[in-house]
Amino acid sequence: MRSGYRARLRRDPLAFIEELSRDSTAGVMRLPWGGMRLPWGGWCVRDSESAQTLLRDPDCHAGGSVFFGELLPDRAAQVELGRAVRGLLRAGVPHYRAALPETVAALPVSGRWPDTGTRLVYRCLADLLPRPGTPGGSRELMRQAVHGGVAVRPPHVWQRARAELVRARLVTAVAEEAHRRRRQPAGEPRDMLDTVLTVCPETQMSDRAVADLHLMMFRAIMAPVSASLTWSVLLACLHHTGAAPWPWPTDHVVREAMRHRPVPWMLGRTLQRAVELGGTVFPPGELLSVCPYLLHHDERLWDSPDAFLPERWAGDSGHGPYIPFGMGPFSCAGAAVAHTLLTESLAALTNHACLAVTGADTRAAMSEGNVPRPFVLHRSPHHPSAHDTGRG
Ligand code: HEM
Repeated sequence: MRSGYRARLRRDPLAFIEELSRDSTAGVMRLPWGGMRLPWGGWCVRDSESAQTLLRDPDCHAGGSVFFGELLPDRAAQVELGRAVRGLLRAGVPHYRAALPETVAALPVSGRWPDTGTRLVYRCLADLLPRPGTPGGSRELMRQAVHGGVAVRPPHVWQRARAELVRARLVTAVAEEAHRRRRQPAGEPRDMLDTVLTVCPETQMSDRAVADLHLMMFRAIMAPVSASLTWSVLLACLHHTGAAPWPWPTDHVVREAMRHRPVPWMLGRTLQRAVELGGTVFPPGELLSVCPYLLHHDERLWDSPDAFLPERWAGDSGHGPYIPFGMGPFSCAGAAVAHTLLTESLAALTNHACLAVTGADTRAAMSEGNVPRPFVLHRSPHHPSAHDTGRG
């Protein structure tokens, strides 16, 4: 490994991984330890076919997924919770959609993103986190958690120290609320805490463990939705600078942003048994990872992979492997509903408005994933002209 890699990794993680891949001839390459902000190591499967084989291989998914770690007792509970939270969000889509116009109208004309995007998503989901009328201050603490860097990891150490205080108070308040609700169980789950409680029997999980799981799911929803929305806004604005509305459907913008800048950095699998990939045998315990960015930029499988082209999604050809939500047994339980939240949010932001950005930088920042660097989004009203409405 060449010296100074940490600085290069910090400066531009995606350029760094691309460079590492270009320098490698083998299908599997060594991954450096990225430091506390982007820990990794082990091996990266850079060959797209082998990567997909790994992610689909049932033998590599025998235990629980890394996503939940030790937070749930077994794989069945993990799958059940993923499905239950997805069901809750899906049922909440009409409410989310209805909340968007007013929330977007209340945004500043010029706002600093990604923070503004995080608040936008949160405000439209807030009635599920926890529901209105919940006593004990957990709703207010959740709001503070969003503003104070608990939902999405902030870049500076002092911000993370402050976030830690809010996080601790939030977990205590949610644990107390979990205790209350266990004494008076609800019928149908009405928010995420009810949903988490449905899969956490009191005999197996403490109130505190429920609160930790609730926080983990909250972050697992907020952080990638906010980052993907921010990439969508940023990339589309940079590629369409005129005053007219964007020429692409929002669905194509979201798909292409998640291809061009997928938020997950690596999808890791710790081997349960020896696996042979690209002629090398990896022993049990080894960490093998797949980098969505590398697969999304494979020149053999994608047409013009380095260009941001929402129009590519209008047709079926020229598409390679697409894994912003992972692939195989551990893939994202909330992929479809996340995509809906993103397209709905983008549609609301662009409805009768033109967007422009200043201070943009398309390099990813190093965090728990490939997150966008701060920029300012300017949103100005757009009045449809005769040309736009087709009355030429
Ligand atoms: C843009 C937003 C999102 C992105 C990019 C994203 C991405 C991912 C990725 C990459 C994984 C791991 C896949 C793997 O290791 O192969 C994952 C797992 C998961 N995601 Fe998402 N996710 C998003 C939103 C959501 C939402 C809204 C939910 C709510 C239901 C959710 C629930 C889950 C769950 C439960 C898992 C664990 C799946 C398992 O191990 O069975 N995600 N997500």
